[in-house]
This record gives sequence, C-alpha cells and structure tokens, in this order.
Amino acid sequence: MATAPDAGQLISMLLKLINAKKTIEIGVYTGYSLLLTALSIPSDGKILAIDVNRESYEIGLPVIKKAGVEHKIDFTEPKALPVLDQLLEHGNAGSFDFAFIDEDKLNYKNYHERMMKLLKVGG
Ligand SMILES: C[S@@+](CC[C@H](N)C(=O)[O-])C[C@H]1O[C@@H](n2cnc3c(N)ncnc32)[C@H](O)[C@@H]1O
Repeated sequence: MATAPDAGQLISMLLKLINAKKTIEIGVYTGYSLLLTALSIPSDGKILAIDVNRESYEIGLPVIKKAGVEHKIDFTEPKALPVLDQLLEHGNAGSFDFAFIDEDKLNYKNYHERMMKLLKVGG
C-alpha cells in the first residue's frame, strides 16, 4: 500500500519547490510518504498525519525516530473527514502549504472540497 518510490521523489521535489512547512497527510500506513515528507520540510515544519490505524504507523515509527524527524509529526487516529471539518471550524482555513491524500478513495471528492479551503493559495 505504500507510495511508489518515484511518486515519493515527485512529492519530495514538490515540497521543496514550494518551501512547504505545514502539511497534512491522510493515509499514513507504515509511514513511507510521511517519512519522505518529514525529510523534505524544514526542521521547524509540521505534518498533521491522519490514519485510522495507529498500529501500522508504529511499525514504521522506529525508522522515523532514527531519521530524527519525529518532532515534525503530529499523528492523529480518527477518520480523516471529521478531522478536516474540525480544522475548518477552528480557523485553520488557508493555513496548510501541502496536502497528500492517500486513502479512502471513495471520499476523494469530499477531501478535495475541504482541502481547497485548508490549503493556502498555491498549495
Ligand atoms: C494507501 S495506505 C497509505 C500509504 C502511505 N501514504 C504510504 O506512502 O506508505 C492507506 C491508509 O489509509 C488508512 N485509512 C483508510 N481509511 C481511512 C480514513 N477514513 N481516515 C484515515 N485513514 C484511513 C488505512 O489505515 C491505510 O493505512
């Protein structure tokens, strides 16, 4: 289920091109795309990482710790859509630089609608 390495390199390049600092990831699994995002943003960058399955995240967590980037990650476990709605309710519109949506394909339209509000112009 992990992101393909070539897609991962594209994500990393995009993050660097836009100087992304605050990102959101939906669908972490064992953390491959999360790790490459954490390695591609500055040391004071932050990733809100959402996955309904913490056990998968914890499989990859030792590697994230070894890479020294755990401090950039806020992992949260509930289903993603209500989390996005809460972010909007709490004034986070226009605050994210980058979003990677990689789960629950049937809800992509709903995620897209929320992300259009959560992302900055150019995000
Ligand atoms: C394709 S994998 C993510 C792969 C990851 N981006 C990577 O590169 O390794 C999809 C993940 O989405 C999670 N997931 C499925 N439905 C979800 C939902 N409604 N909200 C949050 N996470 C969900 C699954 O637990 C699974 O770990």
